[in-house]
Amino acid sequence: PSFDVVVVGSCMTDLVSYTERLPKPGETVRGKKFLTGFGGKGANQCIQAARLGAKTAMVCKLGNDSFGNDYVENFKTNGVSTDYLSQTEEARTGVAPIMVNDEGQNAIVIVAGANLLLNSNDLRKASKAIIHSKVVLGQLEIRPDIILEALRMAHKNGVKTVFNSAPAVADLDPEFYQVTDVFCCNESEATILTDIEVTSVEDAEMANSILLDKGCKSVITTLGAGGCVLTTQENRTPIHVPTRKVKALDTTGAGDSFVGALAFYIAQYPHLQLDEITRRASHIASMSVEAHGTQGSYVSRNNLPEDLF
Ligand code: RIB
Ligand code: NA
Repeated sequence: PSFDVVVVGSCMTDLVSYTERLPKPGETVRGKKFLTGFGGKGANQCIQAARLGAKTAMVCKLGNDSFGNDYVENFKTNGVSTDYLSQTEEARTGVAPIMVNDEGQNAIVIVAGANLLLNSNDLRKASKAIIHSKVVLGQLEIRPDIILEALRMAHKNGVKTVFNSAPAVADLDPEFYQVTDVFCCNESEATILTDIEVTSVEDAEMANSILLDKGCKSVITTLGAGGCVLTTQENRTPIHVPTRKVKALDTTGAGDSFVGALAFYIAQYPHLQLDEITRRASHIASMSVEAHGTQGSYVSRNNLPEDLF
C-alpha cells in the first residue's frame, strides 16, 4: 500500500470539562459541560489529513482496554489504516484530562500510557508503509528516540518529513532538525527551543531563523490568533500568514488541525508553494476553533470551499 500520510504518533482519550474559568490549586469550580473525545496530537493530525481526503495510516500503540477498542473503531470510521496499530496489555490507553474556559483557552494533562511503549520493532513492521509514503508526520507524545528513528527512516528514503515539536521539550536532539523538511512549532515551543521569548510576528521571525540554522528546510511558527510565520532555506525572507478572524469556542487541537492539513497538502499538492499551503491549512485550522472538541471539530473536504482544493 502507498499512503499519502503516515503518522507515527500518539492517541489519547480526551476527557474535556468546560468551566467559566480554570481552577486554581486546591480550588473546586463547577463545570458546565463534559465530553469525551478522540485526541492525542498524532491521531488528531492524522484524522484531519484523512478528512481532507488523504490516504492515511497510523503507527501507534493503544491499551487493550475499552478506550483502546473505541479508538480502533474511530480510525476505521475515518478511513485511517489500522494495519500498523497494536494494543498492549502492559499499559492503559493514553488519556488527556482537559479543561476549557469561557475564552476557549485550555489546560491539558497528558498521561501517555501505552503511547510510550511504541518501539523500534513496531517501526520495523511499518517500515514499508513509512518508506513508500509521501509524507511522514511526527510529534513528541511518544518516545523521542522512536519518532526520530521514524523520521530518519523516511528522510533517508526521500519521503518528506513534517515534525511538530509538541509538547515542548528543552533538550530536543539536534538530529531532529537534520531529518525534518517542515518543522512546525507554536510560540511556547519556539521560545523553549530558541531562548527567544516569542509573542509577536517579529519574535517568530527571529526564532525561525535560529531554527533554520539548525538544519531543517523550512520552519513554521504558529501564533494562535496571530496566524503564523513561515521561513524557508530557499527564501530566508519570513512570510507572515494571518488567520481568519473567528469567535474562539474551543482552541484545543487547532494546532493539530493545522499540521494535519499541512501534511495533506504537501502529500497531494507537491507543486503548491509552501506559503499557499500554509494559508490553506490555517483556514482549515481556524474552522476547528469555532466548534467544541478536538477531532469532533475538524472539517471534512465536502464542507469546505472548492477553492481550497
Ligand atoms: O493538541 C491537542 C491534544 O493534546 C489533545 O487532543 C490531547 O489529547 C493532547 O494530546
Ligand atoms: Na475545536
